This record gives sequence, structure tokens and C-alpha cells, in this order.
Amino acid sequence: MGKHTLPMFFLALGVIVFLGLFFAISGHISWSKNGDCRDCHSGAKAKELGLDDVYAKVASLKYKHSVVEDEKCEQCHILKGFKTGRTWELASSELQREQIFFLKSLLWDRKYSVDLKIKDGAGKEVLVTNVQVKPSQISNIVDNDLKEPLIKDVFIEGIRQAVFLEATIGWETDKPSNSIVEYGLTPQYGEISVSEKIFANGHRITIAGLKPKKLYHYRVKSRDIFGNTGVSPDFVLDTSAQVGSRGNDAEIDTMRPQIKKVAFFKTHGTQDIFLKLSSDKPVKAYLTINEPAEIDKHGFGLVPARVSRIDACVKCHAQGISHPVGIRSNGPKTKIPAELPTIEGGVITCVTCHYPHGGNKKYFARLDFERDLCLACHTTGSFL
Ligand code: HEC
Ligand code: HEC
Ligand code: HEC
Ligand code: HEC
Ligand code: HEC
Repeated sequence: MGKHTLPMFFLALGVIVFLGLFFAISGHISWSKNGDCRDCHSGAKAKELGLDDVYAKVASLKYKHSVVEDEKCEQCHILKGFKTGRTWELASSELQREQIFFLKSLLWDRKYSVDLKIKDGAGKEVLVTNVQVKPSQISNIVDNDLKEPLIKDVFIEGIRQAVFLEATIGWETDKPSNSIVEYGLTPQYGEISVSEKIFANGHRITIAGLKPKKLYHYRVKSRDIFGNTGVSPDFVLDTSAQVGSRGNDAEIDTMRPQIKKVAFFKTHGTQDIFLKLSSDKPVKAYLTINEPAEIDKHGFGLVPARVSRIDACVKCHAQGISHPVGIRSNGPKTKIPAELPTIEGGVITCVTCHYPHGGNKKYFARLDFERDLCLACHTTGSFL
């Protein structure tokens, strides 16, 4: 392989993996048999099943949503990936006694199964499979303590020539937080290396692609699960000398590691789900999160409410221009009236203010957008 083919290969691989993920999550499928929806949701059959005639209803509206009129029902109700479920993995890069994983974008009403593997410094493993969790049933809620992580003991673990010239930087924090290194040839840095989904007290980040015989500036940052961020002062790293790895002073023990506790929790006022893992000695942890296939009343994978009411809409409409969605009232300045539909016990979606299929008011509005819309929820009349 030539000098540049290897990086190009990884770049191309990255692009392919990224595209694959993108399509798995947001992909469109052509649900060609649109007649299928009509079979049950219109005419005599709908009546027989006790359902509304969606088609007749849409036809009677003053403002029709063109996607619905064109019978592209799948654009909002059936998206690829949600039928078959998904699986993804998270791994810690460092031996830790306690670590917190951010389980991003879980669907509220699914029941997930998590497989956990821990491995100690000597390579002894323990596997726990099928830990079940349903986001809507997590009652453990953690409040923001408003304290930024205290960074200490920043050290260079090693500078070595691998595929690239690379260096490993380590540090400690007084509370679980993630790991960020900013570095560059000037005190303005310019490069960044981040491990953002795993929160722990011990940190180690490898920065690769360094130039030999240079002085690099770097600083480290750690952000806790609430976003409170600690920042170190500027340090300098000299790549003219290779530095060996710091000896791993793991005691020689023959005991298998043990998981002491697995706890799921969420943070106050958000829908973010975390998993906290404690073990009897420092371990690396590997998580596999399995999302089951959606089992719905149709058997062909209608998407969950959050997807049909938010994700589908923002495929075609820019989210930025509109009201924030996916959030719930923080009270006491906002209160959502019961007649405006929310999901997950109070979360605003696009459909909270707009009818999805069309409506009799401009913008398919549920309320009079010109008059009382904002005050319907913002009880004080001041927004910020
Ligand atoms: C074989 C009959 C049949 C077909 C075909 C069918 N549906 Fe349904 N659909 C139903 C029934 C019955 C219900 C009500 C289920 C219930 O509430 O228990 C329903 C409910 C729904 C709901 C409400 C789901 C909920 O959780 O409240 C949506 C949305 C929906 N259908 C969309 C569609 C779309 C889109 C299509 C075409 C891709 C389609 N349906 C095709 C029979 C059908
Ligand atoms: C623009 C996105 C969008 C399109 C396109 C769309 N729907 Fe819906 N539909 C929704 C949303 C959002 C809801 C609210 C319930 C939900 O989240 O599932 C809904 C609700 C429904 C319901 C249950 C409530 C009711 O009104 O009876 C049915 C049935 C339904 N849609 C059928 C269809 C059919 C059939 C088509 C194609 C002709 C279609 N939808 C096209 C977004 C859409
Ligand atoms: C497949 C693309 C597509 C999706 C998905 C989609 N829309 Fe639309 N939407 C359109 C198009 C195209 C128009 C403009 C034509 C029309 O009025 O129907 C439109 C119009 C609208 C309008 C009226 C805008 C105006 O200027 O009158 C609203 C409000 C709206 N959409 C809301 C939603 C919401 C809420 C969802 C999710 C439930 C959604 N849309 C999903 C394509 C989409
Ligand atoms: C809190 C209520 C509220 C929510 C939630 C909301 N909207 Fe709107 N939306 C409005 C109002 C009010 C207007 C009219 C704004 C104006 O007059 O310019 C509007 C206008 C629109 C329009 C037409 C105007 C335009 O700029 O094209 C579209 C499309 C639209 N919204 C889509 C969405 C989508 C998609 C979402 C979800 C991501 C959403 N809205 C969430 C209140 C809401
Ligand atoms: C369906 C209820 C509802 C309606 C209608 C609504 N809001 Fe909101 N709005 C909320 C909620 C809930 C929040 C989240 C913050 C909170 O609870 O304090 C929010 C947040 C906001 C924010 C962000 C403030 C922040 O803290 O980040 C702005 C700005 C805002 N709304 C403006 C408007 C305007 C302007 C209108 C009228 C076009 C409107 N809202 C209509 C419920 C609503």
C-alpha cells in the first residue's frame, strides 16, 4: 500500500459506515402499496373496523397537507429501521471502577435489552446479558449539582510511533465526566479529540497524526452529564522524544471482576438516559444495546409517536424556524393545556400545535396562531 492509501482507506470506510448508519436510521423505503392503508382506513371497511375514514376527513379539510393528499402515508408512519430494531455498541477505553454511559436516542416506549461485558486489567471477563430497561419506567432522576468537574493530575502517558505518531494524555476528575483534548502547534489549538458518551473519573485520550520534533500546546476538558465543564491550563508536549507507556501497576490477582451495580437514570428535565456501572475493581466495559423490532397493531412497523410527530416532520421542514420540540414544560412559566396533544407524558411535538394531515386554519393550526397561541402555554406572557 502506498503512503496515502491507508488513511484514504479508513476515510472511505468511515464514510461508508456513516452512510450506512444514516440510512439505517433515517432511511426512506418505498411503501409502494399505498392502497393498503386505504383498505382499512377508508370507506365501508373503516366503518366496520370502527375507524375514522382518514381519506374522507382529509378531503373535507380546507388546507390539506400535500404529502397526505398524495397518499405518501409512509413518509410519516413507516420508516426503515424502526421495524427491524437496531443494535449498537459502546465501549470504555479505560479501566474504571465506576463509569456512566450515555444511551443516546432511546425510544420512550420500547423495552431495550442491554448486554454488558467487563474485563479487568489481566483480561479476565464477566458477561451479563439481557439487562432490561424501558425508558418510560425509569424513576431514578438526578439533579444538576451545578459544579464543574475539577481536573487534576494531567500527564503524558506515552508518545510513540504507531501507524501515525501519537501521544496518550491522561487525567483525573473528581466526578464522572467525559474526555476532551484540544491541541495544536499554537496556544489557539485548532484540533480536538473527544470521547463524549462515557463519563468517569479517570481519563485517557490518544491524539494521533502528530508531527515529529514539534512543540504542541494542549489542554484537557471534562464535561459532566449536565454540561458543567472543567478546563485545565495550557500544557506543552514535545514530540522530539518518544516516551514509553507508564507502567500499569495492576496487582496480580486471580479473582474475576464483579459487577456491583447497574443502574439506569435520567437527568432532571430531560429525556436523556444514562447507565451507571460499578465494579469491584477497575474494568473496561463493553455494552451492546438491543432495540427490539416494533410490534404494532399492524404488524408492519408503524413508527412510534416521537418519530411520526417530530423526526418525520424535520425530514422535510427546517426545525430551526419553528418552536422548540422534544421538550416538556419546566413550569411554572409554562403549562400545556390538556386539549393540545403531547407525548411521553408532556413532551411537545410538531403535532402539539399543527394537525398532521391538514386543517381548517392556515398552517394546519390547532389554535388561532394570530391571537392566543403563545399565551395558551406561556402563562406569564414572557418567554425568556
Ligand atoms: C388490515 C387493516 C389495516 C390496514 C391495511 C392499515 N391499517 Fe392502520 N389501523 C388499523 C386498525 C384496526 C387500527 C386501530 C388499531 C387499534 O387502535 O387497536 C389502525 C390504526 C392506525 C393508526 C393509529 C395507531 C395508533 O397507535 O393509534 C395509524 C397511524 C395507522 N393505522 C396508519 C396506517 C397506515 C399509514 C396504513 C398504510 C401504510 C395503515 N394504517 C394500514 C387497520 C389497518
Ligand atoms: C405529514 C406526516 C403524515 C402523513 C403523510 C400521514 N400521516 Fe397519519 N398521522 C400523522 C401523525 C403525526 C399522526 C398522529 C398520531 C401518530 O403520531 O401516530 C397521524 C395519525 C393518523 C391516524 C390515527 C388518528 C386518526 O386521525 O385517525 C391514522 C389512521 C393515520 N394517521 C393514517 C394515515 C394515512 C392513511 C395516511 C396516508 C393517506 C397518513 N396518515 C399520512 C402524520 C402523518
Ligand atoms: C415528505 C415531506 C413532508 C413531510 C414528512 C412533512 N411535510 Fe409538512 N409540508 C410538506 C410540503 C411539500 C408542504 C407544502 C405544501 C402543502 O401545503 O401541503 C408542507 C406544508 C406544511 C405546513 C403548512 C405550511 C404553509 O406554509 O402553509 C405545515 C404546518 C406542515 N407542513 C407541518 C408538518 C408537520 C407537523 C409534519 C410532521 C407531522 C410535516 N409537515 C411533515 C412536506 C412535508
Ligand atoms: C408551540 C407551537 C408550535 C410548535 C410546537 C411547532 N410550530 Fe410550526 N408554527 C407555529 C406557528 C405559530 C407558526 C406560524 C408562524 C408564522 O406566522 O410565521 C408555525 C408555522 C409553521 C410552518 C409554516 C411557516 C413556515 O415558515 O414554513 C411550518 C412548515 C411549521 N410551522 C412546521 C413545524 C414543524 C415541522 C414543527 C416541529 C419541528 C413545528 N412546526 C412545531 C407553531 C408551532
Ligand atoms: C403547547 C404549549 C406552548 C405553546 C403554544 C407555545 N409554547 Fe413556547 N414553550 C413551551 C414550553 C413547554 C417551553 C419549554 C420551556 C419552559 O417550559 O419554560 C417553551 C419554550 C419557548 C421558548 C424558549 C425559551 C427557553 O427557555 O429556551 C420560546 C422563545 C418560546 N417558547 C416562545 C413561544 C412563542 C413565541 C409562542 C407562540 C408562537 C409559543 N412559545 C407557544 C410551550 C409552548
